[in-house]
Formats: sequence, C-alpha cells, structure tokens
Amino acid sequence: MNLPFRMTAGAFALLLSHSAFALDCDAGAGQKVFQTKCSACHALDSDRVGPHLAGVVGRPMGSVKGFTYSPALAGAKDNWSLERLETWLTSPARMFPETTMAFGGLRKAEERKAVLCFLQSQG
Ligand code: HEC
Repeated sequence: MNLPFRMTAGAFALLLSHSAFALDCDAGAGQKVFQTKCSACHALDSDRVGPHLAGVVGRPMGSVKGFTYSPALAGAKDNWSLERLETWLTSPARMFPETTMAFGGLRKAEERKAVLCFLQSQG
C-alpha cells in the first residue's frame, strides 16, 4: 500500500520539477524567435557562425569541440544554466565583453523566455 503511493508521489514531484519551466512557456513562439533572431548564425545540430545549440541548456560554456570560441567563452568555467542563458541573451557583450557573438541581445523578456523554452525542448 505504502510503497506504490510513495513511488507515485516521487514520480509526480520529479515531473513537476522537470516541467515547471516548460509548463509555463511557449516553445512554438520560441522557435519563431530562434528563426528570426538566431538562425542567421546558429543551427541546432551543426556549427555555423556560432556553435550548434541543441543541448545548450546545461552544457558547459565554450565546450563544442571543433568550434573556435573567443578566449572569453573558451575560458569560461560555468555551465549554461537557464539563469546564465537569460543574462547572456539580455546582453551578450555585458556578460562577456570580449565575445565574438555580434548580437545586441533580446530586449523583450517574453522573447528570452520563449527562445529558452524552445532551446530547452531541443535537449
Ligand atoms: C551574428 C551572429 C550571431 C547571432 C545573431 C546569434 N549568435 Fe549566438 N553565438 C555567435 C557566436 C560567434 C558565438 C560564439 C561566441 C564566442 O566564442 O565568444 C555564439 C555563442 C552562443 C552561445 C554560447 C554557446 C556555447 O557553446 O558556449 C549561446 C548560448 C548562443 N550563442 C545563443 C544564441 C541565441 C539564442 C541567439 C538568438 C537569440 C544567438 N545566439 C544569436 C553568433 C551569433
């Protein structure tokens, strides 16, 4: 009696913690932001002007093998958490003044949230 209940509660808690962000955001809108603002330089699965972005949420910064990063990103030690991605997309040059990502940033919070939702769904 007790065990199945605990397992269900545990699975439910896990589901909640993993999908809390996804439930509250719009990957479809994020895909549009990606296409209009990012895809000139980024693809999901291949490196172009910028590194591929599938799986970027949680990935160590500057870690795609074979892509030539700026020293700023190549030397960065953190992982791309959602919070750090949010800071980065607000203003890449404010976070890493030496970056070669020539992109001013997404000014609208909804666009940042949507594009992160989309990228997270491309894990
Ligand atoms: C003008 C080209 C360009 C545009 C537009 C652009 N990027 Fe980039 N991006 C780059 C380059 C170049 C780098 C590598 C930067 C470096 O090494 O300093 C990069 C790096 C990144 C990284 C770090 C990846 C890693 O492996 O550490 C993320 C995340 C990222 N871009 C997301 C985005 C998103 C999301 C958008 C759209 C909102 C976007 N970029 C728009 C060129 C661009």
